[in-house]
Amino acid sequence: MKQTLRFIAGLLALLLLCAGCGSGDAKVLDGAAVEEGFAPMEANGMETLQGALGYVATLTSSESGTTHEVRLRYPKSMDEHFNRVMRLAASEEMKQFHLRRSSSKNKNTLTMDYEIKLVDEGIISILLLSKSVVDDAAKIRLIPHNFSLKTGYPLKLGDLFTGKDYEAVLIQRVGEELARAFDGNGPLSAYQNGRDHDRLLKDLAITANDLSSFYLDDGELCFVFEEGRVAPKECGPVVVALPVDSLKDHLAERESISGVEPTPFPTPTPVPTPDHTDTGRKYIALTFDDGPHATQTPRLLDILEEKNVKATFFMLGTCVENNPDIVKQVYDEGHLVCSHTYGHKNLNTLSASGVKSEIDKTDKLIKDIIGHKPKYIRPPYGNANATVKKTANRVLVNWSIDPEDWKHRNAQKIADNVVSAAKDGYIILCHDIYSETVNAVPMIIDRLRAKGYEFVTVDRLFEIYGTNPQAGTIVRMAK
Ligand code: NI
Repeated sequence: MKQTLRFIAGLLALLLLCAGCGSGDAKVLDGAAVEEGFAPMEANGMETLQGALGYVATLTSSESGTTHEVRLRYPKSMDEHFNRVMRLAASEEMKQFHLRRSSSKNKNTLTMDYEIKLVDEGIISILLLSKSVVDDAAKIRLIPHNFSLKTGYPLKLGDLFTGKDYEAVLIQRVGEELARAFDGNGPLSAYQNGRDHDRLLKDLAITANDLSSFYLDDGELCFVFEEGRVAPKECGPVVVALPVDSLKDHLAERESISGVEPTPFPTPTPVPTPDHTDTGRKYIALTFDDGPHATQTPRLLDILEEKNVKATFFMLGTCVENNPDIVKQVYDEGHLVCSHTYGHKNLNTLSASGVKSEIDKTDKLIKDIIGHKPKYIRPPYGNANATVKKTANRVLVNWSIDPEDWKHRNAQKIADNVVSAAKDGYIILCHDIYSETVNAVPMIIDRLRAKGYEFVTVDRLFEIYGTNPQAGTIVRMAK
């Protein structure tokens, strides 16, 4: 299990290594250095999603014999169409494996696992990672699939874009990034063979066909090239990642993937009603990040006290250092004090020791004030790769509602965004460093109370819904 996670972490590390080699922020990833030997990762259990898919659970299919060993893990949802696409993908890998090993006398293996990304605006990207080893020769394949949560149907690249020229733009951008990867210190520079930029572009000959294999990850649109397509086979698959923001002139309005227009989660298909609703009550958690702030947080505390609401604060170590008295006040008034790490770094870019330092420093600062370590951590940007999860070894709490208060800076709009997306068991992301957010809080509380919601801290929310979150996993909602 850990090996797969390292495999994925390896990919991320490569992305970062390559980050400086292209122009802008686009990246090229060379799969050659991917760590050998990945095995299936830990079950991600059942993740409740809104919309057509309902949930995603893991299906495992194994086959074992004297000449081969197969273990495939792939996602399953409520939607038959989705399930069919995944089953087909799994059986295709199986077929390719049996073809490869048909004349082999050795014991060969095939493993497949997946990563799932919940992208803004009701899209999920699934990345299947398959590795077959035949006569000690490994072949790694990355197979991305994207689905709309609204319809359950696969998402095509064209669904994300508007106009006719997006294809030409992408072909150009991807070609340029790849060509640069062969230059100077680029990850593929060993294969430049004296070719200049124009010659490389010509050799690569990127076409619209090359764009069909894509996924979305952390604000990036990533294109997967099978091994041997753009670089020698020993490089493995190559991924080119373009920041979504850099493509925004071409993105379709409705299916915008950069989070330009926040849309509430789509109408959910019915999910089983948990026991607690016997009482007719609904529970939700307000969380505040990036503080405490010298003036906004005390103002917020007054509002919460007046409304008799308990909330959860994900504090930055740097702010804890500057405002220890406010931390104490937050704690004394019955709110839950949690960690948002020390310096708001993207933890995915750090080594395990870097991650540990960001967490430990904040733990100590908070413990010195409230007497114990913070129970939960919210990683900055919600980013937590395998290294972060393992290093944190604590429950990581993300969110289910993001009103994008940092962007709108308008109390009415922030309140509208929260109220329209609210569901019981959800976790609301806000920032107690903006006056507009603090101004929105009384509206949020009054309007959701009118709809039957009660506000609780996240640990109480988990307790009520029987969530039982595990250390080293990310939780986004209580149900
Ligand atoms: Ni933050």
